[in-house]
Amino acid sequence: MINQKVALISGGNRGLGFETATQLGKEQVTVIIGSRQLSDAKEAVRKLRLMDIDAYGIELDVTNDAHRKSAAGYIEEAFGKLDILINNAGVVPEGFTTRPLNSATSPEEFDFVFKTNFFSVVHLTHQLLPLLRKSSAGRIVNLASAVGSLTLQSMDNSPLAAFRSLAYNSSKTALNMFTILLAEELRNTNIKVNSAHPGWVKTEMGTAAAPMEIKDGAKTSLQLALLDQDGPSGKFIHMGEQLPW
Ligand SMILES: NC(=O)c1ccc[n+]([C@@H]2O[C@H](COP(=O)([O-])OP(=O)(O)OC[C@H]3O[C@@H](n4cnc5c(N)ncnc54)[C@H](OP(=O)(O)O)[C@@H]3O)[C@@H](O)[C@H]2O)c1
Repeated sequence: MINQKVALISGGNRGLGFETATQLGKEQVTVIIGSRQLSDAKEAVRKLRLMDIDAYGIELDVTNDAHRKSAAGYIEEAFGKLDILINNAGVVPEGFTTRPLNSATSPEEFDFVFKTNFFSVVHLTHQLLPLLRKSSAGRIVNLASAVGSLTLQSMDNSPLAAFRSLAYNSSKTALNMFTILLAEELRNTNIKVNSAHPGWVKTEMGTAAAPMEIKDGAKTSLQLALLDQDGPSGKFIHMGEQLPW
């Protein structure tokens, strides 16, 4: 088992995932890029190594059970433990910003979004828990979103009224419930579990209309990944501030 911290970032090949891997790598964390396409993982690793970051890549479509199992097998064999799990991979349904009407949500859209944003996160995390338990400071970061906050969405004049996509928003609300329950289950262990709202960030998902740069968008994940022993668990955080569920 190595002394250096080891992190797995799902969807680490681009967007917030790649930036989080970069920032973690610069903090001397060994990073494993999980990517749907092995070629994308390899390309991300090439770029990270050019920055002197200790990086590795694996094929990991989070919706694929065999990929999740082989990710755990690879990490066990190569590192013997996992310190940080960034559950970053996520999808939005087509027409996310232009067709937010609840009644227009198809069963296929629900399946697609929940499978990636919720069920796969739960399954991947459960698969990796034995390795996280071997860490002296296990940290799980679930990439949620403020649009999944029931409190913020139900406010009169909600600031998030423009972002009302039923499948996406509720997948992130469900993810927040996972954060709360898992944190409670792991309360007497070395593992902390938190939900991150990165902000509205200029990625492919966030679009060019977003106000935040990717560098800043990755900061919340980085902070939660590197929390010290006194840090929070079972919370919903954006840039160090707690958000309402
Ligand atoms: N950007 C924002 O404003 C914002 C706001 C709130 C929350 N978030 C959350 O932050 C996370 C990252 O978002 P982003 O803006 O960086 O999105 P992005 O630019 O669209 O990147 C999404 C990443 O997820 C990967 N992915 C999708 N489905 C996958 C699967 N089945 N298995 C493995 N990887 C998969 C993509 O891989 P491919 O390259 O193979 O497609 C890509 O690497 C998401 O969970 C998102 O919901 C983003």
